[in-house]
Amino acid sequence: MSEQMFRRLIVLTAFSHFLCSSDVCREEVTTLRQQEKLLEDQLHKQELLLLRLQLLDQPDHRVPVNQSQDPRDTDCAQLFTSGFRSSGSYRVQTGRVYCDMSDGGGWTVLQRRTNGGETFNRSWTQYKDGFGDLESESGEFWIGNDKLHNITSQGNYTLRINLEDFDGNQRYAEYQEFKVANEEDFYRLTFGAYTGTAGDALSGSLQVGVSEWAGHRGMKFTTYDQDNDNYRGNCAREDKGGWWFNKCHSAHLNGVYYSKGHYSAVTDDGIVWYTWRGWWYSLKTTIMKLRPTDFRVDPADDPGAVPLH
Ligand SMILES: *[C@@H]1O[C@H](CO)[C@@H](O)[C@H](O)[C@H]1NC(C)=O
Ligand SMILES: *[C@@H]1O[C@H](CO)[C@@H](O)[C@H](O)[C@H]1NC(C)=O
Ligand SMILES: *[C@@H]1O[C@H](CO)[C@@H](O)[C@H](O)[C@H]1NC(C)=O
Ligand SMILES: *[C@@H]1O[C@H](CO)[C@@H](O)[C@H](O)[C@H]1NC(C)=O
Repeated sequence: MSEQMFRRLIVLTAFSHFLCSSDVCREEVTTLRQQEKLLEDQLHKQELLLLRLQLLDQPDHRVPVNQSQDPRDTDCAQLFTSGFRSSGSYRVQTGRVYCDMSDGGGWTVLQRRTNGGETFNRSWTQYKDGFGDLESESGEFWIGNDKLHNITSQGNYTLRINLEDFDGNQRYAEYQEFKVANEEDFYRLTFGAYTGTAGDALSGSLQVGVSEWAGHRGMKFTTYDQDNDNYRGNCAREDKGGWWFNKCHSAHLNGVYYSKGHYSAVTDDGIVWYTWRGWWYSLKTTIMKLRPTDFRVDPADDPGAVPLH
């Protein structure tokens, strides 16, 4: 039924009220009114459906339910739960952070490498406070070790690392009970069990003998101007980025950005995840993000599900 026909019907029912005198006529008017009601309901449903489809068409799939963001939110998971569905920069208790609301949503991003736009050869103070481009969708940045400590001391967090090589292959690694200590303890790294497809480079335990000198569990943070590693030299100086070095590493995602995978250099200073592509392959894209371990993705929040009625 076209809108025009629908309007005619409404006009007809409105006028029939004045024209009617017989019972037959009145009956007809009642029927018409019922039809009108039915059509109105249908139209309303169609409008809702249209609105839904239009929202799905937008890049972030959803319009934020709640525009008034509370800076007392503790992390991106809490923002997601209170209705924020767009990835981007938000303010939480500990300061500005980038929230990844895809991949199930609620991820606070702590590191991203995409194009070599930022140098990661930075000082202790810069790693402490954070640096880089927190605003754009593919900006490179480090969240800041103080924020990292602050957020991870709020509860039980899962660290997720997404990796991509220059052939478009993707792998991930996830660690339970991810925690970063405070500055007095040199932002020491602790984490629990591994799951994933990239291999457990962070603990180095996949290969016999590697974890003792290259594993990162329990390591302190080192930068070129603050040497807390187990090496006679300074790993951050050699590998040109701050990290939880041992002597030195089996994973170093803050290394030098090489714009093709295989590289040669004096030391293994690329963006390395040893258990996947070895020490002499530098990755194209990395993202490190965290989320409370007990975070549950509500099926009702799944943008793939389109309820039609
Ligand atoms: C929106 O956010 C404000 C501030 O955090 C909060 O008080 C309010 O309850 C939220 N509303 C909804 C519908 O979530
Ligand atoms: C890293 O930064 C420090 C301080 O600016 C500088 O002395 C050093 O040469 C840099 N290293 C590289 C490889 O750029
Ligand atoms: C995190 O930072 C906020 C704001 O600076 C502060 O109120 C809170 O006590 C900090 N929490 C921890 C565990 O450091
Ligand atoms: C944190 O989560 C892990 C994995 O679910 C669990 O084994 C551990 O007991 C939790 N720790 C705390 C302190 O809740």
